Amino acid sequence: MIITIDGVAGSGKSTLGRMLADRLGLTFFSSGLLYRLKGLMASRGEEIALEDLVKTGRFRIRKDGVYLDGEKIDDVLQSEEVGKWAAKVAKDPSVRQQVNATLKLLAEGGNFVVDGRDMGTVVFPNAKVKFYIDADVMERARRRVLQLGLEPTEEVLREFAEKIAARDKADKEREIAPLKPADDAIIIDTTGMTPEEAVDIMEKHVMKHVPRVPLQAFAQKTLGPIFRGWFHIHFVGRFPKAGRWLMIFNHISNWDPPLIAAVSYPRQIEYMAKKELFQNSILKYLFYKLGAFPVDREAKDIRAVREAIRRLRQERIVGLAPEAHRSYDGRMLPWHPGVSYFIVKGITPVLPVAIKGLEGGVKIRELILAKRRVSIKVGEPVYPRDLYPNRDMDSALHFLREKVQQLYDSL
Ligand code: DC
Repeated sequence: MIITIDGVAGSGKSTLGRMLADRLGLTFFSSGLLYRLKGLMASRGEEIALEDLVKTGRFRIRKDGVYLDGEKIDDVLQSEEVGKWAAKVAKDPSVRQQVNATLKLLAEGGNFVVDGRDMGTVVFPNAKVKFYIDADVMERARRRVLQLGLEPTEEVLREFAEKIAARDKADKEREIAPLKPADDAIIIDTTGMTPEEAVDIMEKHVMKHVPRVPLQAFAQKTLGPIFRGWFHIHFVGRFPKAGRWLMIFNHISNWDPPLIAAVSYPRQIEYMAKKELFQNSILKYLFYKLGAFPVDREAKDIRAVREAIRRLRQERIVGLAPEAHRSYDGRMLPWHPGVSYFIVKGITPVLPVAIKGLEGGVKIRELILAKRRVSIKVGEPVYPRDLYPNRDMDSALHFLREKVQQLYDSL
């Protein structure tokens, strides 16, 4: 899922974008940072190719900010001086083209909340949800004055309001990529609203685009608490509230899929499950209704891959066990090489999950007496862009396997 947030300067786009992404479990990125990076380099008389920075793995987006060569650069980029340079380079069509191509690279796989001036109109015209944030000039002046720790006297406010109004005019009247709401944008005027109130509205709009699997949701609500209690489930991390994810997990027991689904509510997980489970017509009906779909583990099952892609494009969570078979002692089996296809091709980000506690098989007696303790942990998501500079099937498989192994070992 790609969510764009455009709007006037000082409307709080970045604050809202970051809060929204946090709530939903998606990545936030401010496109202005790329203009600022180009501006910083221009101020030093240097040239950089932004796309190469991403493809060589030198530029990374982490949870707490953006990194260049391992150093966090957010603060440097936010300086007033760099801002001026950014405004200058942002007028250059070739710079805009480079920034836009780089944004598309960073957003590959989706689950990306991005703010700017032309995100919904030019760069991501097919974004699932587009917001346009507006706010009264005087209110924006007041926010800015308070942010800078100044006294909000009438004179100071008027001075700031004039500057902001001039900037609005420049943004809206510029020739390339002028600031305007996309035809399908949701316009939110944040005048008189707290950030929380604005984000509540935004979240409601986004949630309309999160598909549900009704029977699984019902099972999660009714059986979920029972499973959680019966298996004493210790749950670490969280499932993203929105977006498409390929959820991969280590496989130790037939209980893994339902137990993971017992903690993923309000999201449902659509499991790619062995075709043997679909032989009986009653079970087949039930599994389909629960959101599962069959895969032939012994063959190159193109149909199952296509079905997974179709569901991912609908912004669903597809779950699969890359080992394809259960490991009774918890030692991970070899992984099916096809797993990395989805991320290497940029179809989806991956959500690694580890489950522990059911090794060795569960005996009926243990089951009845609720003897087993299960831990489930959701790791940090892996995006296609995180694979650079080695974005190939083998490296990706190794990388993801390590992630799940580390999660398992940490339980
Ligand atoms: O939002 P910001 O202040 O970080 O943006 C820095 C500069 O880049 C600013 O002059 C506006 C420009 N910009 C743009 O032209 N188009 C965008 N999508 C984002 C920023």
